[in-house]
Amino acid sequence: MLITIANLFNDDEVAALRSALEALPWQDGSRTAGSLGRSVKHNRQADEHAAQAAGIVGSVLQRLEATPRFVAAALPRLIYPPRFNRYGVGETYGAHVDGALMRLPGTGTLFRSDLSATLFLSPPEAYDGGVLEIDTCFGVQEVKLAAGDLVLYPASSLHQVTPVTRGERLASFFWIQSLVRDTDVRTALLDLDDAIQALTRERAPTDPVLLSLTGVYHNLLRHHAET
Ligand code: NI
Repeated sequence: MLITIANLFNDDEVAALRSALEALPWQDGSRTAGSLGRSVKHNRQADEHAAQAAGIVGSVLQRLEATPRFVAAALPRLIYPPRFNRYGVGETYGAHVDGALMRLPGTGTLFRSDLSATLFLSPPEAYDGGVLEIDTCFGVQEVKLAAGDLVLYPASSLHQVTPVTRGERLASFFWIQSLVRDTDVRTALLDLDDAIQALTRERAPTDPVLLSLTGVYHNLLRHHAET
């Protein structure tokens, strides 16, 4: 299931992120691809080791952790430090599946990608092509969001970024290891959380139905969470 989170960053914040990113050194994106991805990955990627990168990565992580909708949807246990890519005219990332296991930079901790995320940093009118196409059980979903919007999708999905034919597409991408590994269970928990949030707006905190559903949510999470 695809989940979009609008306005993770507002226009001013996106502009600030973009100008900070412009100052970073950019490298061939195939550098960090796996053996299969390397042949289809044609883009550029910010050098994550550059001294100025840490602040930008930190500001994205901080915003994610402070966004209730992101936390409810992803139930993050670990977030892979966000990376940044850009696609100019003719650049593309052909069909691939993201690696299942990676080492977290710095600590070397083994990390499992449950969710993939793309944060769009270019307004859609600034480029043609550059569509994120994700294979889902309902067919291919085309994703091209406003600057500052985020999409989350199962990391198991086959996906690609179509060639940019005009302008430039700047984005951040990263992965999440979730407390709840199973996509269906995680999705059901999000649906339940949404219903509870809607009830919370209408009912008193002592309402027995609200209390009961909140209990069900936490007991399901307790049952399924891997810490
Ligand atoms: Ni990918």
